[in-house]
Amino acid sequence: MKAAVPADDLGLRALATQARRARRRAHAPFSGFKVGAALRGQNKITLGCNVEAATYGLTICAERVAAVKAISEGRRSFDAIAVVTDSAKLTPPCGACRQVLWELCGDIWIHIANTRGKSRTMRLSELLPFPFDRRNL
Ligand code: THU
Repeated sequence: MKAAVPADDLGLRALATQARRARRRAHAPFSGFKVGAALRGQNKITLGCNVEAATYGLTICAERVAAVKAISEGRRSFDAIAVVTDSAKLTPPCGACRQVLWELCGDIWIHIANTRGKSRTMRLSELLPFPFDRRNL
């Protein structure tokens, strides 16, 4: 595991600013819980927001929207994602997003922040320490 680096050295505060912008486009009429994500790779940023469905189970989280958008646009190499909510308690990616981010993006930096400037940065491998992936097939 790589050593922790202050968020600013990695440009993650700027990435969180992009995620904050993406959050404004969240479609969250059922939960009211708006999430924005900004996924970075090869100096390009792909934005995502949560998109909810009336059949609640079909809701897609902001992180997965960003990852699937990026892959569909031909991007293959990533180093960080910023995720922003309005919650006082920081919002870590859900289990499904951890798995999908691991498979599509690898061991990226996860920078979680809120709209009030609180944040925390960790590696995805800290959140998903014993993953199932292609190496198990
Ligand atoms: N959500 C995300 O978009 N990302 C997370 O990391 C946690 C949860 C969304 C899904 C749903 O639209 C709402 O937040 C409440 O769970």
